Amino acid sequence: MKGIILAGGLGTRLRPLTHVTNKHLLPVYDRPMVMYPLATLRQAGISEIMVVCGKEHAGGFMNFLGSGKDFDVKLSYALQQSSGGIAEALSLAEDFADGGKMAVILGDNIFEDDFSSAIKVFERRSGAMVFLKQVPDANRFGVAEVEGDNIVRVEEKPAVPKSDLAITGLYLYDPDVFSKIRTLHPSARNELEITDVQNLYLQERKLSFAMVDGFWSDAGTFESLLRAAQWAAERKKR
Ligand code: DAU
Repeated sequence: MKGIILAGGLGTRLRPLTHVTNKHLLPVYDRPMVMYPLATLRQAGISEIMVVCGKEHAGGFMNFLGSGKDFDVKLSYALQQSSGGIAEALSLAEDFADGGKMAVILGDNIFEDDFSSAIKVFERRSGAMVFLKQVPDANRFGVAEVEGDNIVRVEEKPAVPKSDLAITGLYLYDPDVFSKIRTLHPSARNELEITDVQNLYLQERKLSFAMVDGFWSDAGTFESLLRAAQWAAERKKR
């Protein structure tokens, strides 16, 4: 399976840190943020990876990651012209995916888990798979409502969440994802929302899920960036 790291967007919540560099190149303890999603894909056995980045700091990504050789992966790049949303960023990887399934990870998501076995299971399925984590502040995230083994509803940043299950930033998709993205309309924040993509799979009863066991955090706000760095420092000590 191929991998896609979505590292576009403007990182406005981290200004002034993101005035002169990209969010995903900021340090999370001892390494730039983008190395964590890269390691998550690599650990899951994915070595052919596309990085989608914003045009402002594309040079920084290429300077740091290069061909991927130093990280034992093969990298290609796509440029997102403006911050049109996660689903728009993903649409740029259609040629790269080349009709196959893919693992998509947000460039600011830090995971402890090894997803190899979930990815192996998904190789034999179609549809989409998301990974859920119980959180105290679900209103910051995409939220899933679950009944038994099924997701029954997904919502993006609901003011009053119906569950405490955040949809984390790792998604497994079949190649139908691109035709689904083409049907989306921009949300109130003028973005093509990845939660709308999950909704389309849900309507077809093709959205499955697994739970995240270990640590997970985004790193897109000052609080979450600090939390991620503290976890990384603790892990290093251990
Ligand atoms: O962290 C998980 C959450 O990420 C999910 O629970 C939400 O459903 C999902 O919408 C997203 O929420 P955020 O509002 O926190 O996403 P943010 O705008 O911070 O973007 C997350 C990453 O996605 C960012 O680090 C890079 C990538 N991205 C984002 C946008 C808006 C792009 O590549 N292009 C974009 O245009």
